[in-house]
Amino acid sequence: MPATFPPRALMLSLMLGCGLAQAAEQADPNALAARLGIPQPAVIAHRGASFDAPESTAAAYRLARDLGADYLELDLQRSKDGVLFALHDNNLLRTTDVAQKFPERKDSPPNAFTMAELKRLDAGSWFNQAHPDRARPGFAGLKILTLDEIIDIAQGSTQHKPGLYIETKEPQLFPGIEHELKEKLQDRGWLSPAGSKLAKSELAVGQGKGKVVLQTFDRHSLELLHKEMPQVPKVLLLWVGAGSIEPASSVTFANSGETDKAAFYAKQQPKDPGEFKRWIGYAKAQGAIGTGPSTALAAGGEQSYADLVQPWMNQYTHDQGLLVHAYTLDEPVDFKKVMDAGVDGIFTNRSAELLKYFKRPANASVAQLLEAGGY
Ligand code: G3P
Ligand code: CA
Repeated sequence: MPATFPPRALMLSLMLGCGLAQAAEQADPNALAARLGIPQPAVIAHRGASFDAPESTAAAYRLARDLGADYLELDLQRSKDGVLFALHDNNLLRTTDVAQKFPERKDSPPNAFTMAELKRLDAGSWFNQAHPDRARPGFAGLKILTLDEIIDIAQGSTQHKPGLYIETKEPQLFPGIEHELKEKLQDRGWLSPAGSKLAKSELAVGQGKGKVVLQTFDRHSLELLHKEMPQVPKVLLLWVGAGSIEPASSVTFANSGETDKAAFYAKQQPKDPGEFKRWIGYAKAQGAIGTGPSTALAAGGEQSYADLVQPWMNQYTHDQGLLVHAYTLDEPVDFKKVMDAGVDGIFTNRSAELLKYFKRPANASVAQLLEAGGY
């Protein structure tokens, strides 16, 4: 370096003095994550530890917490009588015994049921049937959880305090849900300022600045979330298809003649680089601190979509001052690929594996923790 070049410290203070701190941070996602109190890289337990226990149930969320995941991820819906609860699908058939308990209403959307009716459903036995190798008698009869109950779980351990990573799912079905979410988080003390000492502790994400992250695929919902909770970090989820990034080809999976969904999506690309960049612009303009892009998985399968974590995409997103949290990965080969490409966090069904990959292994095995939890 030439002798006349200003030393690094001087450069930094000049940048700060000139109001360029943001520019410096843009070049460094680690600095952005640190400012927001979001672990870097972040372990986001997708519907809880849902590889090892029935998704979105107490078993899955308690296990994710006890393994040491940073965030409990959930898809937020609202019951007929106005209770916020967690469920991914837009009906109850796959993950409950609705067909036995409410045969005439089995195809109805979840929001056609009161919370008392939803609580009558068995949200665990399907897992034992679908995954006999991971089945446990204690999973039978597990219940759909309210947001309150998931908050109780997040707060319920003295050793691990995960944050909450909450998606407004199909928000057009639930007008006002962004406001109700804010009221609930406020009532439960999850919007109050963080203790700075706790925020620095790896085990205290749920008590630090980044204790809640809000996520949505829906730009309008993002806008509403930002209006309701401007101080809370928000992520715009991305995929290639209807309502999100416009694809290069207008042929849909349904019309493609392709039988393998992952193979179809692996070929999907944004219409052009400008279309990808437009969506990064939307995320930023509507208050997001990051994006949640889809990924193409090495082995394909149900969770494999278009590859939106190519190195240039992550670099561009970082250059715009945003983080990248990729969904949904369970295998080390995929962890490596996306981390090498530059992402800042991963949604996973297998928190135990991802924590191991990040060299933050849990203190006990999945089986030990499930047994200790009574499952
Ligand atoms: O929320 C991130 C990821 O969960 C998006 O996919 O369909 O599992 O909610 P989905
Ligand atoms: Ca989700």
